[in-house]
Amino acid sequence: MDKQKLIRIFDKQATQYERRREDPRQKRWRQQLLSHAKGVVLELAVGAGANFPFYPPGVKVTATDFSEAMLEKAKQAAKQHHIHSDFICSDIEAMNFPEQSFDTIVSTLSFCSYDNPLMVLDNINRWCRPNGQILFMEHGISSNLVVSTVQKALNPLLYRAYGCHHTRDILGLIRESGLKINRVESYWLNMAHLIWANPIHLSEMRDN
Ligand SMILES: C[S@@+](CC[C@H](N)C(=O)[O-])C[C@H]1O[C@@H](n2cnc3c(N)ncnc32)[C@H](O)[C@@H]1O
Repeated sequence: MDKQKLIRIFDKQATQYERRREDPRQKRWRQQLLSHAKGVVLELAVGAGANFPFYPPGVKVTATDFSEAMLEKAKQAAKQHHIHSDFICSDIEAMNFPEQSFDTIVSTLSFCSYDNPLMVLDNINRWCRPNGQILFMEHGISSNLVVSTVQKALNPLLYRAYGCHHTRDILGLIRESGLKINRVESYWLNMAHLIWANPIHLSEMRDN
């Protein structure tokens, strides 16, 4: 989909995402994942800032999103939770940071949207420090045949309405990217995953 159209779709959902910050199950998962964040953090596609209540003290977060409307909500959340943060409005698929810039990279519910998720995974591997960590909370295709059939049937409609693919094999993509997966927790018939990963060394990447 054209990026400007996708941005408009997310701009329109900003208030809904702000309300969804209160979803109790997501809150539990976010808390569990974000308790591991430390140091200099990059948060991809921050949305309305649903992770800000859960960052441990002392982190410094660079938060990105291509939707100004989402970023406005995220800035309010950061202020409310006293998070030391800065914000960049840009398409993450067109961004670059120096290699090994971040101790922690966070992505929650963002890999469903990108045109080229593997490219973004390669980039975050480069942007993360060698002893850093990459924390994901993502959703995708279920391992249950009935559910996945429904997901495949509805996906074109859901993508046009919400800008989000429901059929991605998130764990498969992360494995393909070569990131080192340390721990996975899967929920909702394997539709939702919490994933703790580390970058692979750049030398290993270049040798392959
Ligand atoms: C499903 S929402 C998730 C928001 C937030 N991470 C959360 O956990 O609630 C997806 C977010 O990704 C952003 N997004 C999607 N594609 C993007 C891209 N290519 N570059 C930057 N932001 C993007 C959208 O604007 C939206 O805020």
